[in-house]
Amino acid sequence: MNTIVVYKSKYGSTKQYAEWIADELGCGTADAGKIKANDLEPYDAVIFGGGLYAESIDGVSLIANNFDMLKDKKIIIFTVGLTDPGHERYYRSVAERNLGHEILSEVKIFNLPGKMIMEELSFLHRKELGVLKAFLSKKKELSEDGKMLLELCDKSNDFMDKEAIMPIIREFKEQ
Ligand SMILES: Cc1cc2nc3c(=O)[nH]c(=O)nc-3n(C[C@H](O)[C@H](O)[C@H](O)COP(=O)(O)O)c2cc1C
Repeated sequence: MNTIVVYKSKYGSTKQYAEWIADELGCGTADAGKIKANDLEPYDAVIFGGGLYAESIDGVSLIANNFDMLKDKKIIIFTVGLTDPGHERYYRSVAERNLGHEILSEVKIFNLPGKMIMEELSFLHRKELGVLKAFLSKKKELSEDGKMLLELCDKSNDFMDKEAIMPIIREFKEQ
């Protein structure tokens, strides 16, 4: 199957996963910011990965806004974020909000663990996290999700794991 892995990555974790996946599948990668939907026409399968920012899948509009053109291809989407991939309720709501039911019923989606190194963040991102932290800290009672978020936005974390790509690879090899 003629396959391409397309990614949108601000600090390199999604790009790293895209490269690991492409290596395993023996296919190429492309930066979503440098291609147009028409460039995907020659491929039978498109794997798209985007980092999570405030619950948005970075760059996924390339797939969502062009789904009519892409829907006859095999489409796999993966997110990369700090939230534990085992947090099903969180990821279900992220997927629904970013893609909607119609697209979700036609694609497979996987959630991979990312990293965030405080010293690497842009001024704007640090500020965003500071605002989020101040907002959460002021709350009298925090839900479990709120506590998790407060902990994650407060320090560097690196959950990158090459093994996490295996369900995506199996999805292809078991065809
Ligand atoms: C401003 C900001 C917002 C973020 N929002 C989320 C989020 O909503 N959910 C999540 O799981 N991770 C969130 N993260 C963590 C990123 O998804 C994580 O660092 C990811 O590895 C980034 O991928 P990239 O380097 O490929 O862009 C956020 C990070 C920053 C800096």
